[in-house]
Order: sequence, then structure tokens, then C-alpha cells
Amino acid sequence: MRINDPKIAARLGELDVELVPGTRLADLTSLGIGGTTDLLRIRKHESIPDLLTLLDANHVQHKFLGGGSNLLVGDGELPWVVLQLVSPEPDVILEGNFARVDAAADLGRTVTFCAMHDLGGMEGLIGVPGTVGGALRMNAGAYGMQIGAYAREVKLYRAADHKIEILQGNQISFEYRHTSFAPDDMMLAVTLELPSKPYKEILQGIRICNEKRRSSQPLGQKSAGCIFKNPPGASAGRMIDDLGLKGLSVGDARVSDRHANFFVNAGRASARDMLKLIADVRERVKKAYGVTLENEVVVWNG
Ligand code: EPU
Repeated sequence: MRINDPKIAARLGELDVELVPGTRLADLTSLGIGGTTDLLRIRKHESIPDLLTLLDANHVQHKFLGGGSNLLVGDGELPWVVLQLVSPEPDVILEGNFARVDAAADLGRTVTFCAMHDLGGMEGLIGVPGTVGGALRMNAGAYGMQIGAYAREVKLYRAADHKIEILQGNQISFEYRHTSFAPDDMMLAVTLELPSKPYKEILQGIRICNEKRRSSQPLGQKSAGCIFKNPPGASAGRMIDDLGLKGLSVGDARVSDRHANFFVNAGRASARDMLKLIADVRERVKKAYGVTLENEVVVWNG
């Protein structure tokens, strides 16, 4: 979708929002898949309510992009614009055991920065790509920890109320890859409370997790991490692997040879290819095990 009205473009400038016309979302997602639209880069959280009023008044549909690392975007010209926060400098502020982190901050860099100041707990998340806001919305987790366990306060834009609000950690429910945030809420910042640990000890934990990840996941390839959530008490990766589906392909969309719950873009895969592969694997798993796998990856198609 293109914003061609000069009046809207001028108002965006007043709100300190940068308009990047004709952005290829394939360049902003770890899967390297996705069509084209206008990108609006937001420099000030406070401008969001006015920005959304402007878009709504002009019937401009929008989606909110984090780090693009858990996302499958449709092909071609997209029917909505994309909003993205610009990370401020600095994006992490420490005070005792609390880290106040902007939602646009890179997750891995945040974990490392906190570690260097003897704040641990998030070692398992070190290899998870994406932003802190994206990790928070999905309650990202690995190796026995989930980010929600450390969230004490969240600043967000509540679409339903049209305003920026602060929620305390105990007002939010964090479950396995799911939170109580509404789909159109935008994460803006989070205060994490992290346990004190010597840097050396945290580093050791980070090394162990990195090693496990390197040996079991296709890190150098274009993917969105795990495609399906694990069903209760089982591993989607193992189920798909046991069916002999590693290497199954639709065009350049392919079930990874290394981890069967990672689907990789091995070249020029389209969203259509990837969606077909996802549907095919889901159907085979349903047939074999009677279990319907739920998407872990977020799909923006139409
Ligand atoms: N397995 C296989 N074949 C495979 C993949 C896995 O047999 O192709 C087996 C493994 O050998 C292991 C078991 O299945 O015995 C579980 O595998 P793994 O330890 O890789 O964990 P997972 O359940 O597949 C989850 C998360 C990952 C996270 C890892 C490590 C989900 C959907 N996935 O994977 O998160 O990195 O644990 O904690 O919860 C993600 O969220 O995108 C993601 C990759």
C-alpha cells in the first residue's frame, strides 16, 4: 500500500515519522520472504496515538513490525503499511537489578549488555533473533526460561483505548509462546528484573546454550525459527522428523535437514511456497498422530 497523499506525508513529518516508500519486507524478515509496501519508522512513542488517528481517518490499514524474525509475510503488493519503532540511544538503562529496555532493542545485544553488568537469567535467549518487544509479545523462550518471567512493567500502546499505558507484570499473563496482550497492542518498553550473577558465570551459560543451538538448529540459513508450537508433552520437530519429512520441499521452501520444525528459504521461496509446505506438513502430522499443529510463526497474509 502506498501513501501518495501529500497532506498525509506532511503530517507524518510533523509527527517525526519517517516514510520509506516501497520497502521490500523480504529484506526486513529473517525468512527473506515478503512483498512490498510503505514503511513508517516511528522515532517517538508519544506520536503513536496521533499517527494511528491519522491512519484510521484516511483508511490506511497497518501492521506493527518488530525484528521480523518470527514472521511470514505474503507476496506482492501488500494491502497495509508497516510501522516500526526506531531504537533510541541508549536502548537499555540499568538501575540496580532493573533493566529498562526499549521494545526496539535487539534481544541478543540486550542479553549481552545486561550480562556485562552482572545481570543474568536470560542466557537461554542469547541466540534468539529479533527485538525485545517481539520476544515479549510472544513470551519467547528457550532452554527452560521465558522472558515473561522477568517482566515487571510494560509500556504499550493499547489500540482499544487509543492511548499509551503502563501495565505491571502481574497484570499480564505469560504462557508458553502466548501472552494476554491484544493482537493490536504495541509493545513500547519493558522493565526487566534480573538476578545478579557474575559475568563469567553468565558467559558460561551463554556458551552452553550457543553450543546446543549450533548443534541442533540451522543457524546460517534463512528461517523464522520454529514453525509450529510444540503440542502439550511432545516435540513438533521430533514428530515431523519421525515421519521422514526432513528435506521435503515446495519450490525453495524446505523442511530443514538439521531441525524438522525449522522451515528454511533455500533460495527464492515465496510465501505461497512456504504456506503450502506448512499446510502439507500439518496435514501429514494430523493424519499420522491425530494432532493439529498450531503455528508458532506469525503469518501476515492479506
Ligand atoms: N528432535 C528430533 N528431530 C528434529 C528436531 C528435534 O528428533 O528434527 C528431538 C530432539 O533430539 C530433542 C527433542 O526433539 O530430543 C526436542 O528438540 P529441541 O531440543 O530442539 O527442542 P524443540 O522442542 O524442538 C524448543 C523451542 C525452540 C527452542 C528449543 C530449545 C518450540 C516450538 N521450540 O524446540 O524455540 O530454541 O526448544 O529450548 O517451543 C522457536 O521458538 O522458534 C524455537 C526455535
